[in-house]
Amino acid sequence: MGPLLMLGAGRMGGALISGWRRAGLLSPADLMIRDPYPGDEAKAAIADGARHDPDLSAMGQAETVLLAVKPQLWREAAGEVSQALAADAVIVSIAAGVPAAEISKAFGGRAVARIMPTTAAAIGQGTASLYATDPAAAARAQVLFAAVGAVVELEDEELMHAATAVSGSAPAYLYAFVEALEAAGAAAGLPAASAQRLARATIAGAAALLADSGEEPAELRKQVTSPGGTTQAALEVLMGEGGLGPLLETAVAAAARRSRELGA
Ligand SMILES: NC(=O)c1ccc[n+]([C@@H]2O[C@H](COP(=O)([O-])OP(=O)(O)OC[C@H]3O[C@@H](n4cnc5c(N)ncnc54)[C@H](OP(=O)(O)O)[C@@H]3O)[C@@H](O)[C@H]2O)c1
Repeated sequence: MGPLLMLGAGRMGGALISGWRRAGLLSPADLMIRDPYPGDEAKAAIADGARHDPDLSAMGQAETVLLAVKPQLWREAAGEVSQALAADAVIVSIAAGVPAAEISKAFGGRAVARIMPTTAAAIGQGTASLYATDPAAAARAQVLFAAVGAVVELEDEELMHAATAVSGSAPAYLYAFVEALEAAGAAAGLPAASAQRLARATIAGAAALLADSGEEPAELRKQVTSPGGTTQAALEVLMGEGGLGPLLETAVAAAARRSRELGA
């Protein structure tokens, strides 16, 4: 990888710095960070030699520019640096909802790839939805994100809203599920510490088994559901009327709607 300029290095930018350094894709010497209050991972990279708030001529050396500020701030972040960039710098945006054409316009017509990542990139287990019409931008984004997890390329930009709702936002759904399971365990009489340990270890193990076994989730579910048993009793609630299916459909639709609003 050549020099990379990060615009914004908060939670998601920090997760990517960790993942890229861990994968050996990016050395701090190739990293420039523009952020008034960089997060911990960015601070660590700066301590190891990454440039903080590079000047205009340094920014001109960036081959890739990662746009990683909150969607509400992206125009301001673009406006501050666009003039300084090399004509062939590729813009990789992780801003939820913001269309590639808008970003390209704000960056003087430069090539753009859009990515919706997840924070597990920090441990090499991220998921990235990728949309780019420019082949060089798509290839650059592939190199960056395949190094820290799975990449799913989308042909239609409109699908980035659904991908955001099913992937970018989804780690929070699982964390909310674990919180609710812990609370339900405590309500069923378990000491809080035991409920926490049981819920966290069980869900992490079940997710690892799904990843490792290559089995369909429905098959894994059937394997642990004896007819007339305890699991079936719970699944009649979770998969019954108003259960997980319709609930997630409504939640995913709400996230996709918000993604459209953020890009408007
Ligand atoms: N967090 C996730 O799990 C996740 C997942 C997928 C995609 N994303 C996307 O990633 C983007 C960033 O989200 P985040 O959660 O990482 O946000 P964040 O933690 O707020 O990080 C953004 C960072 O950018 C800084 N910043 C603000 N204005 C700037 C400017 N003009 N130039 C340079 N840096 C500036 C912010 O500084 P201040 O704190 O001073 O404002 C902050 O440190 C969003 O567009 C989001 O849609 C996030």
